[in-house]
Amino acid sequence: MQEYHFTELSSTQDYAKKLYLAHVENFVVYADIQRAGRGRNGHTWSSPSGGLWFSFDMDMIEDVSLFTMGVGVAVREVLESIYGCNVKLKWPNDIILNRKKVGGIICEKVKDKVIVGVGINTNIKQISEGKATTFLAETEKEIDNSIVMNKIILRCKEVLNNEIAQIVEKFRKNMEYRGEICFVSALKKELKIIDVADNGYLMVETDDGIKEVSAGEINLCI
Ligand code: BTN
Repeated sequence: MQEYHFTELSSTQDYAKKLYLAHVENFVVYADIQRAGRGRNGHTWSSPSGGLWFSFDMDMIEDVSLFTMGVGVAVREVLESIYGCNVKLKWPNDIILNRKKVGGIICEKVKDKVIVGVGINTNIKQISEGKATTFLAETEKEIDNSIVMNKIILRCKEVLNNEIAQIVEKFRKNMEYRGEICFVSALKKELKIIDVADNGYLMVETDDGIKEVSAGEINLCI
């Protein structure tokens, strides 16, 4: 795997896309600081020094929903094994620690590949966004970002090449907000979260019965 490291970059995700379009394959792009980190659904992604910000290319499996969940499952497992604490997943693939967001994943299809972007608030003392936290703030542990990055890439490839049948079950076991009322962006309503379906869609309770949602995000109603 070719590694492209930058002390500062606008976005590893944008750089990775350009690399792939220039016919480079099997790479990872990582940066100590991103000036214009991007989250899902047009959100900006704050990427100060100390955090882990990287993007890499992967072969696509047919189902995008399962693919993104598989990456979430792999990232969660690596973080839990490194920090030794209970890390959860919020649908579709936010990384949650102690009920607060500590990382996020974006999967973008480019031709026949997916550019996977992972952002984790690792060695950052504190973060200004109210609902977010950092591993350092919650656990007081500092980790080696490049070791964690390589473990995550390896585990993503294992899960998506050999363990597809277990992805949904593993996601369910560690799913945050099941049974709670959340604002579901796709339906623009506050609804009870029931589960994830076998196809990776989110199941929510509505007045007309259980509905499945394929895109968007959920946010806990307080
Ligand atoms: C989300 O939760 O909305 C997804 C956040 C993804 C952030 C990562 S950081 C590395 C890569 N580069 C970006 O610009 N975004 C992703």
